[in-house]
Amino acid sequence: MPKKLTAAITAVGGYVPDDKLTNFDLEKMVDTTDEWIRTRTGIEERRILKGEGLATSDLVVPAVKQICEKRGIHPEEIDCLIVGTITPDYIFPSTANIVCDKIGAKHAWGFDLSAACSGFLYALTVGASLVESGRYKKVVVCGADKMSSIIDYSDRTTCIIFGDGAGAVLLEPNHEGYGVLDSILKSDGSGCQYLHMKAGGSKRPASMETVLAKEHYVYQEGQTVFKFAVKGMADVSAELLERNKLTGDDIAWLVPHQANLRIIDATASRIGLPREKVMINIQKYGNTTAGTIPLCLWEWRHELNKGDLIVLAAFGGGFTWGATLVKWAY
Ligand code: UT7
Repeated sequence: MPKKLTAAITAVGGYVPDDKLTNFDLEKMVDTTDEWIRTRTGIEERRILKGEGLATSDLVVPAVKQICEKRGIHPEEIDCLIVGTITPDYIFPSTANIVCDKIGAKHAWGFDLSAACSGFLYALTVGASLVESGRYKKVVVCGADKMSSIIDYSDRTTCIIFGDGAGAVLLEPNHEGYGVLDSILKSDGSGCQYLHMKAGGSKRPASMETVLAKEHYVYQEGQTVFKFAVKGMADVSAELLERNKLTGDDIAWLVPHQANLRIIDATASRIGLPREKVMINIQKYGNTTAGTIPLCLWEWRHELNKGDLIVLAAFGGGFTWGATLVKWAY
């Protein structure tokens, strides 16, 4: 009997801009030290998209082009493209629309999905469902953020964390049991107060007042978010393994959202995975929000083997969090 239809990841792409912002650069901008940032977060540098008029779509386009090259497909073959992001090019239209136009994906429809640092996981689950429905054969799922566009570089509590970057995966139908096997996603809107952007939405439209009050930047109560993140990401990862009757020994890689090395370590230890089995690139890119997980997949793409079971886990603004189990398909 053929196995049920699953959505397999068949290609991965990624992109980070060339410009680096190091801890030493930040020492000159705010009252901080390289030592404080490294020990509290694990970050050494991040990438920043510089250039007039460049936006999140410009991070996504190279990642999606890589995917098309790798699979030898024309962008016109893409059925749907989803962009997980909280820094869209515009409030409307969607970044997905703009990306599709820039790459010539003329037959695709698409949309942006807003779930902050869990944006890629949410989008991956939605994209996988589209493939599993049998109606779509090539769905591109992207996670991308130009965080530098919403960061106050005079606020030492947030500017040290975030960077810019994008990653993307192609999902295609599979009948051999590879791909997205399970996903547990959660959200709790009462967490909004601890991590949000105060203005620019319909509640507080942009005005001279909101700009002067610096309300178009990320606001975060770091310690509170940290506590929720440690518990949320570790608990949901453990729940996912338990539901699938797996232990850490069965897992080839943990692919965690890169927000803070201490949160990553807590999650890995909770599900019994040693550091060697955890993808960590926070030192190079910082927290690229929806970009972190696909950027890890992109960087580790040559080390992933067919049949590897991997756990993707995230926690972020909303609050939103979740974990996804994937069986690597190639
Ligand atoms: O990805 C989305 C979800 N976000 C997260 O998961 C982020 C979660 N939060 C964190 O990663 C951490 O809370 C931070 C990295 C943001 C902050 O680290 P922390 O260990 O929680 O520091 P803290 O906020 O408790 O601050 C400790 C001290 C304070 O000084 P006092 O009050 O003890 O004198 C801060 O003012 O460190 C001070 N501080 C800094 N010192 C040097 C805060 N930021 C800095 C800084 N450099 N950049």
